[in-house]
Amino acid sequence: MLGLHLRELTLNNYRNYKSATLGFDSKRVLITGKNAQGKTNILESIFLACTGRSHRTSKDSELIMLGEESCNIRVDVERKTAQFSIDINISRKDRKRIKINGMAIQRMGQLMGHLNGVMFSPEDLKIVKESPSERRRYMDMEISQIKPQYFYYLQQYNRILTHRNNLLKQINKKAELKKTLSIFDEQLAEAGAFIINQRHEFITKLSRIAKRIHKKISSDMEELNIKYKPSLRVRSFDIESIQQDFLDALEINHLEDIQRGNTGVGCHRDDINFELNGMDVKIFGSQGQQRTVVLSLKLSDIELMYGETGEYPVLLLDDVMSELDEERQIKLFQELGDVQTFVTTTDYRSIPAQELEKFETLVINEGKIQKMANIV
Ligand SMILES: Nc1ncnc2c1ncn2[C@@H]1O[C@H](COP(=O)(O)OP(=O)(O)OP(=O)(O)O)[C@@H](O)[C@H]1O
Ligand SMILES: [Mg+2]
Repeated sequence: MLGLHLRELTLNNYRNYKSATLGFDSKRVLITGKNAQGKTNILESIFLACTGRSHRTSKDSELIMLGEESCNIRVDVERKTAQFSIDINISRKDRKRIKINGMAIQRMGQLMGHLNGVMFSPEDLKIVKESPSERRRYMDMEISQIKPQYFYYLQQYNRILTHRNNLLKQINKKAELKKTLSIFDEQLAEAGAFIINQRHEFITKLSRIAKRIHKKISSDMEELNIKYKPSLRVRSFDIESIQQDFLDALEINHLEDIQRGNTGVGCHRDDINFELNGMDVKIFGSQGQQRTVVLSLKLSDIELMYGETGEYPVLLLDDVMSELDEERQIKLFQELGDVQTFVTTTDYRSIPAQELEKFETLVINEGKIQKMANIV
């Protein structure tokens, strides 16, 4: 078995689920039902078991059924070497408690890497369509999962940047403070060099994988290129040389930075470009093309995680099938192979019949789940 297999999910007082236990024998699970019945809630609870947080809200109390005091989520997972369970308890009064195989964990970081998951929901279109900060956030989250050290440098960088920006504003009023600027320059360049180096490495790997996947999904029609656009001009992506370039750029811009009261160049201004057949997808891409690019990205994330851990994560596809034409859908499922995939849709007939028969199907109605033997 190459991929994780989520065997059972149990929800108690979770959103609109009073009490539900679901067994998943198959690697393809279809969750269907009308709007507002609880389809996304199921995927959200699985994502919660992956990362310790919801993909929709940062307020855990929203996850508890209205009128109840606490909720529980339990997953039983089979992996290559062993079986394990994750128990999450969220209460209105207490902090969140997580157990792995019945043993309480102390820090959220300890949950990472147990049940890996990739979520693809309509909001992910933001990565392609909206501002550079969305793309940086995507990049930062992915690299942090693969390399926890990156997360540390990123926090470090943001802290130094805030200090430096505060100092720049003070220099405007008190010129003699300028002496201390170089200390921050050095710290910022050091953390920044690591971040730029890792972003470059990540995008290089990602681009190679995404190009292959996108070509297949678009039936050889489209060539996807993902390009890292650092705001800093660098001679090479060697850490030491980035650090020197970073330092030089900060010094050259001292005057401008002081006038503006913030730091004009650095990782906090980086971006990624997505190009289809040489055209910027953000500007020229159709809705379906933009969606397919994000899909290729997510499939590449799966591949990258597999490369790092030797096991495929679970894939959560929330409401994204209907925007892909039949050909792209069939290509998608071919690409998935052994990846356990949960798909939600209001209209299961939009899924190609030949694929539909491989799914086990759950029909959701007001938080009640009905298993259907064979939907076709
Ligand atoms: N804390 C809560 N307690 C009780 N019910 C809740 C809670 N949070 C959400 N709900 C209910 O869950 C339902 C929405 O569930 P969900 O978002 O999973 O729907 P969905 O089936 O994915 O719908 P759509 O097809 O529109 O995406 C709503 O009826 C909402 O009132
Ligand atoms: Mg939904």
